Amino acid sequence: MPKDVIIACDFSSRNETMDFLDLFAGERKPFVKIGMELFYSEGPSIVREIRARGHRIFLDLKLHDIPNTVRKACRALSGLDIDMCNVHAAGTVEMMCAALEGLTRPDGTRALLIAVTQLTSTSEESMRSQLMIDAPMEEVIARYASNARAAGLDGVVCSPLEAGLVKKACGQDFLAVTPGIRFEGSSKDDQARITTPSRAREIGSDYIVVGRPVTAAPDPAAAYARCLEDFLNFD
Ligand code: C5P
Repeated sequence: MPKDVIIACDFSSRNETMDFLDLFAGERKPFVKIGMELFYSEGPSIVREIRARGHRIFLDLKLHDIPNTVRKACRALSGLDIDMCNVHAAGTVEMMCAALEGLTRPDGTRALLIAVTQLTSTSEESMRSQLMIDAPMEEVIARYASNARAAGLDGVVCSPLEAGLVKKACGQDFLAVTPGIRFEGSSKDDQARITTPSRAREIGSDYIVVGRPVTAAPDPAAAYARCLEDFLNFD
């Protein structure tokens, strides 16, 4: 199973993003995540430009709509050369099946498709009091992951703390892509369910998604190198 560190490029403009990517001039081009902010600001051209610079891309648009709309949106995304994209598992198994259908090109190739279980900023308390979901967080994650597996998806986005339980529910080959990563002793920001890169590796994450600990670091390239070292044992 390939493991890697994905940097969340949560910037609002092309220039800011390119200035940031220029910091990674070494041979290893980081796998990057393009989120809603950048994609809605710059459109598909930003995906093509980052791809042309040699980066692998996770397009994190977290689609959630009726199945027909998601199928068509995924068909549009299938025209982009991306490696991974995602939908919300809360959209139901039918919606995830439609997403997979739309994403698959006529020649059978497609990007990896993963589902968001519960956002790592959501606590069990807010899930209960605001979303009226009374089941414990772990049961919700396991069920949403099983639904994604049933729909034929490749894995889920979840907290690193839940990677083990996802593997138990869905098998070792089912991907656990995990944001909510912080270095020991640093700020949690708005994340609720977090851990360190090395602990994420021990629990079973396949890909860690790291934003502010790298993008807001005084030396982003050094922070990225630290993530690689901790997560992949990579020097
Ligand atoms: O800055 P930070 O490391 O918290 O960034 C985490 C990234 O992962 C953000 O881009 C956020 O949108 C994304 N994400 C998340 N929780 C999820 C899915 C995606 O934090 N469940």
